[in-house]
Amino acid sequence: MDRDAAKQAAGEEAATFVEDGMTLGLGTGSTAAYALQAIGRRISEENLDVRGVPTSFGAERLAHRHGVPLTSLDDTATLDLGIDGADEVDPDLDLIKGGGAAHSREKVVATQAERFIVIVDPTKTVDRLGNSFALPIEVMPVAVTPITATLEDLGATADLREGDQKDGPVVTDQGLWVLDAHFPDGIADPHAVDEALSEHPGVLDHGLFLDLATDVLLGRPDGTVDHTTA
Ligand code: A5P
Repeated sequence: MDRDAAKQAAGEEAATFVEDGMTLGLGTGSTAAYALQAIGRRISEENLDVRGVPTSFGAERLAHRHGVPLTSLDDTATLDLGIDGADEVDPDLDLIKGGGAAHSREKVVATQAERFIVIVDPTKTVDRLGNSFALPIEVMPVAVTPITATLEDLGATADLREGDQKDGPVVTDQGLWVLDAHFPDGIADPHAVDEALSEHPGVLDHGLFLDLATDVLLGRPDGTVDHTTA
C-alpha cells in the first residue's frame, strides 16, 4: 500500500476545512505535515489570515518552513480547528497518539479546539485500541519504576523508549521520558486505563485520546478520503 499517498490525501483534505480568520491547532507527525504544507499553500495563494498553535518543536519548525503564522494558548485560549494524526483509531473515534512522543502537548491543544479533525491512513484503524500499537506515557524519570508497576497491575508490560540516533532514553519536548505500554489483548477498558494513569504521580499524560475527535478523515492510496463524524 502507498501509505504516503493516503496520508497526503487525508492531510490535504483537512486543509480544505481551514477558513479565513481561524485559529488552528497544528499537529505533529508525517500525516499532519501534509496538512501543514497544504495550509501554508492556501495562506500564500488565498492570502488567508490564520494563526496556529504548534503541538511540538517539530510542528513549530514545519510551520515556519511553510509560512504558517504562529500563536499560543496564552493569546488564544480557544481554537477553531485542530488537525492532527493518530497511531490508532477505533470505531468510536477514540485514539492512541504519541508515536512521536508529542501526545501530551497534542492533547492540551486538541482539548482547546472546538473541532478536532484526525487524519489517518488505512493502517491506523483498529477494532480495539492497543491491538497494534503500544500506549505511550510521558513520565518523570524518577517515576519510571512505580509507573511500570502500575502498568503491570493493569495487565501491560512497559518499555522505556530509547533514542534512535542518541544513546539512552528519548527525551521529550518537555524534558521527560516515554514508557510504551504493551497490552497483550488490546485495551479492554480505555476509560479505566485513562483514569488510573491520569491520577498517577509522575505521569504528565498518556496517549489515549477519548471523546476528543469530532471528525476522522481516512485517506486512501487512490487519493479518496472517507469522512466520519462523531
Ligand atoms: C506524535 O506524537 C503522534 O501523536 C502523531 O500524531 C502520530 O504518531 C501520527 O503520526 P504519523 O502521521 O507520522 O503516523
